[in-house]
Amino acid sequence: MTVISRDKKWWKEAVVYQIYPASFCDSNGDGVGDLPGITSKLDYIASLGVDVIWICPMYDSPQVDMGYDISNYEDIYAPYGTLQDMETLIKETHARGMKMMLDLVINHTSDQHAWFKESRSSKENPKRDWYIWKPARYSETGERLPPNNWRSNFGVGSAWEWDETTQEYYLHLFATEQPDLNWENPETRDAIYQSSMEFWLKRGVDGFRVDTVNMYSKPQDYPDAPVVDPNTFAQPAGMIYCNGPRMHEFLGEMNDILAKYGAITVGELPNTPDTGKVLQYVSAEAKQLDMVFQFDITELGLGTTHRFETVPHNYTLPQFKGAIDAVQKLIRGTDAWITVFFENHDQPRSVSRLANDSVENRVASAKLLAVLQACLSGTQYVYQGQEIGCVNVPKEGYPPENYLDIDSSLFYKMMVERHGDNKEEIEKAFTAIQHLARDHSRVPIAWNGNAKFGGFSEAAENAGKEVKEPWMKTHPFSGEINVASQLTDKDSVLSFWKDAIKFRKENANITVYADYRTLRENDQNVYTFVKENANGVATAFVVLNFSTEPQSYASPSNEELGLSRSQDAKLAQVLSTHGGKSVGGALAPLEGKVYFVNP
Ligand code: GLC
Ligand code: CA
Repeated sequence: MTVISRDKKWWKEAVVYQIYPASFCDSNGDGVGDLPGITSKLDYIASLGVDVIWICPMYDSPQVDMGYDISNYEDIYAPYGTLQDMETLIKETHARGMKMMLDLVINHTSDQHAWFKESRSSKENPKRDWYIWKPARYSETGERLPPNNWRSNFGVGSAWEWDETTQEYYLHLFATEQPDLNWENPETRDAIYQSSMEFWLKRGVDGFRVDTVNMYSKPQDYPDAPVVDPNTFAQPAGMIYCNGPRMHEFLGEMNDILAKYGAITVGELPNTPDTGKVLQYVSAEAKQLDMVFQFDITELGLGTTHRFETVPHNYTLPQFKGAIDAVQKLIRGTDAWITVFFENHDQPRSVSRLANDSVENRVASAKLLAVLQACLSGTQYVYQGQEIGCVNVPKEGYPPENYLDIDSSLFYKMMVERHGDNKEEIEKAFTAIQHLARDHSRVPIAWNGNAKFGGFSEAAENAGKEVKEPWMKTHPFSGEINVASQLTDKDSVLSFWKDAIKFRKENANITVYADYRTLRENDQNVYTFVKENANGVATAFVVLNFSTEPQSYASPSNEELGLSRSQDAKLAQVLSTHGGKSVGGALAPLEGKVYFVNP
């Protein structure tokens, strides 16, 4: 087997820690997280073994979609702080040997951006063409219809909004208040690059997480999407507007600028299950993006007509293995690179989604997932709170009205409208958001279970300031799952994550760079895989019990390890969720172990 020897890069071995500014740490007691709050926790972040922090949008914004609706790329949302605070944060991050990535949101702006205000003011405005405007269609009966049947990503409504003043529709693939920019116009692209990228690169930012990176180029004939949901006019159209004809040309242009600054990139790549297409974005030779986020894992068991139209844990362990396999295999024999993540600000908590969040099982679950992440190839991403094993908010004590995200609240509202007082349907909708909503990752971080509001505004409280209730209700389990109590506990999820990160970095050849191969694909309870060297010989054997029952497993055969029959296979346990040492045999519920082979 030929394997291209892997090009080593610092960012491939890096651990990236993602911060959601509104919910990370509040320094002044107004109940909203802020930049000085992040700066105050940099030592904590560095102590995890993190190399890069990625900050979700902190730009000026009316916050219809929590800052993914940007009204000015060159300024800070006032409750988060000032440009000066941002400069301090960049400087202090660098002073600790860490790098900083920002979120680059350039498929759309806010409707409050000066560019859009001009664009919508008249058809003659020079910026009219900076957004995507189209005339109406009319049905046979003369009813006005949007230019096509595309559905917006939030709710089930049309992706087109009628504008009374100029009597045309504009496109918004996300919220109505997030109009899509027209990338066909070179002047627009230039302005985007200057304002959103160079402005920050000049201020020392080290790279970008590129939001919805495959949506900039739309098919210019704007075809209708096939009807999959006969209940609604608008249809899911992601497969049509993602990966459009000029995508790679645009990314090439962007890369010319990024390369000047040596900036790193990770792109968000939804609706791209085709490996060949993914490679066009992340093969090193293509010079488009350093890495991408694929959604094979996070989309497991989602509804087909709408992500929430499903039931919890609607997938099997073999499907989970398959989803991981699909991502991991991308680097086999190629010059591409991949990422490892189970959480982000658009996902529920991984312990609840991918393992078991009951009181008895949640700690073991969090450690099990940490072992899996530590052993998968690619650049590792950790989302704030994942390192303390945060779980979804429970149903009890956290009613639907506490969910503030545009996506979950639109869905819940729609179900209430559709089903009125049908208790069973409403309960089903509540169950769905309790399992899948983006809100779970946006709940304020509990820094101290003994302080007010889980210590979210602890510094302000200690300084004797008045402390307001956080913008989003705190987690009912803040007393049990918080940073302070885990810092001093060597058996905590937090301590385990630190060890797992250290282990990963010290053994990067095996953990980060080696090829991955699933064993025993069909096992419904135990997840087994190897990492192997360029000759197909296993260097590590990993066994993870994803069930809540004890399980047994067989020691790996020589064949499974890629060894000949006569060769000796010595296994040495190097990481374990439960501590005990044994080869072959028993696994406690949610126990995971890593062995090196002939170390
Ligand atoms: C991305 C972001 C998400 C946001 C959307 C629109 O998917 O991760 O939070 O709502 O883009 O910008
Ligand atoms: Ca604040």
